[in-house]
Order: sequence, then structure tokens, then C-alpha cells
Amino acid sequence: MSLVEVQSLSKRFAGRDRLAVDDVSFTLERGSALGLVGESGSGKSTTARLVAGLIAPDAGSVTLDGQEIVGASRGTLRSARRTMQFVFQDPFASLNPRMRVRDLVGEGLLVHGIERDARRRTDRVVGTLESVGLDASHLDRYPRSFSGGQRQRIAIARAIAVRPSVLICDEPVSSLDVSVQAQVLNLLAELRESLDLALLFIAHDLAVVRYLCDRVAVMNSGRIVEQGPRDDVYLRPAHPYTRSLLEAVPIPDPALERSRREARAGQTPEGVTP
Ligand SMILES: Nc1ncnc2c1ncn2[C@@H]1O[C@H](COP(=O)(O)OP(=O)(O)OP(=O)(O)O)[C@@H](O)[C@H]1O
Ligand SMILES: [Mg+2]
Repeated sequence: MSLVEVQSLSKRFAGRDRLAVDDVSFTLERGSALGLVGESGSGKSTTARLVAGLIAPDAGSVTLDGQEIVGASRGTLRSARRTMQFVFQDPFASLNPRMRVRDLVGEGLLVHGIERDARRRTDRVVGTLESVGLDASHLDRYPRSFSGGQRQRIAIARAIAVRPSVLICDEPVSSLDVSVQAQVLNLLAELRESLDLALLFIAHDLAVVRYLCDRVAVMNSGRIVEQGPRDDVYLRPAHPYTRSLLEAVPIPDPALERSRREARAGQTPEGVTP
């Protein structure tokens, strides 16, 4: 049994004639990272929100540790929301500007009844801040006094404080300066390892997904047109849409570029570890 099993999810928004998500299925293993890529409007964020139980599908099933989330009781949904945490694109919009860091990061501990004692909660918040590269000196500051990269660290701390097993990241670095994107990606890779977190990682940037994920699913018009191990999708894309996505962006990696050229020329890219 996979940690998350998504089966035949579909969703049509009121007043739309097209399905936003159309018969989407995938699984996510404990500690693994699945990248969801596709152009704007292809249904990535809607899929993420369906998986997290934030919106209800018209059809399909999502199980977390074997437990059905679609149509589940409030109690089941509540615990699913603890287990599956979200990190959004824009930390300027996702963090309440009137809350201090200690409350932003401690909120889940309070809401889920994990740490009711204020002092112990603070200890745990400090430990969580340290795991994202911040510290106790930041506890009583407000989001406005932080840079974009630091804000995203706060958002990540807020998500991992409750010890989720799945972190759903919807374009978590695309609003950040290029110079800090790599730091935040490295942090996510480290946390995945140290906390045995499964990542559902949404991005436009194929190079970012290639760096972070071991499996990739490609979405187009609400459907997953191709999915598989990272190297299969990147080096031997089966679907024309995947090929056009890969060709539209230069992937700044000489080894990958070379092996792609070789693959196109019909040779086996031996000895290449992309
Ligand atoms: N709340 C909503 N109400 C109506 N339509 C919606 C809603 N949210 C998304 N859609 C539509 O559903 C489709 C999929 O949108 P979604 O936001 O999931 O795409 P996306 O792949 O995340 O795009 P992007 O890369 O721009 O974030 C789009 O046609 C979008 O306009
Ligand atoms: Mg989106």
C-alpha cells in the first residue's frame, strides 16, 4: 500500500464546460518525491487541492495510509490535513501579516492539540525554526521583516511543525529571487531526507523538478499524459506533449543535454547519471 493513492480523480468547476482535473491517478510512496509539471491551467493546483482534501472531487478516490479521504468525516479530514501539509507559491500572501513567527509556526501544534503547553510549544517552534535555518531570535518578529526566502522558510516551518508525512509544494520557489531558489530547494531536499517526507512537488520549471523528484507526472488539459521515473520521462519522453515541454526549456545541465542528444540520435546514453 502506498502512502497516498489517487485514483481517477475528476473535478469540474461550476460554470466551466471543461474538466479542470480529468481522470487523474498516481501514487506517492513514503519519503519519495513526485513532480507534477505542465503548463499554466493544466490542473496542477486543482489536483493538489483535491489530494489534500481542500476541495471535493466530482469523482475518484484519495487514500492516505489506506484511509479514504473523499467524502470522509470531519475528524478524518482533520487528521488528513495534519498529515498532508501545504507550502504555497507566495509567502507574502500565505502568511498572515498580523501574526508573529511563534504563532505562525505554532498554530498547527495548537490547533491539532499536539502541544498545548505554551512553553513546550515555544521549544518545539524553536526546534522547527532551527531545522529551516532560522532561530529563536526570530520568534517575535512579523513576516514583514523577512525577505522572500526567509518567509518561505517560515512557511515551511509552519508546515513541518506538525510532523506531516506529505508535503505538497505548489510552485514553492517560483516567486523567489533566482539567487535564493536553490537554497530553498536544498532545504526541501534535506527535510525530505531527515523527516522521511513524501513530496508532491508542483513546478513549471522542469530543471527544478529534475533536481528534486524521483518520479514525474506530466499534466495537459487536466489529464496526466505521462508519468514515470524521472530519467525515463526526461531522457525518453513517450508523449509528444512531454517532448514539447522539454524542448521549450533549456535544461542547464551538460550531462543531461548530451544524453538527450544521444538519445535522439538513437544511442544509449551509457554511463550518464543525470
Ligand atoms: N476556483 C476555480 N473556479 C473555477 N475555475 C477554476 C478554479 N480554480 C481553477 N480553475 C480552472 O481550472 C483549470 C486548472 O487550473 P489550475 O489552477 O489547477 O491550473 P495550474 O496547472 O495550477 O495552473 P498554473 O500553472 O497557472 O498555476 C483552469 O482552467 C482554471 O481556470
Ligand atoms: Mg497552479
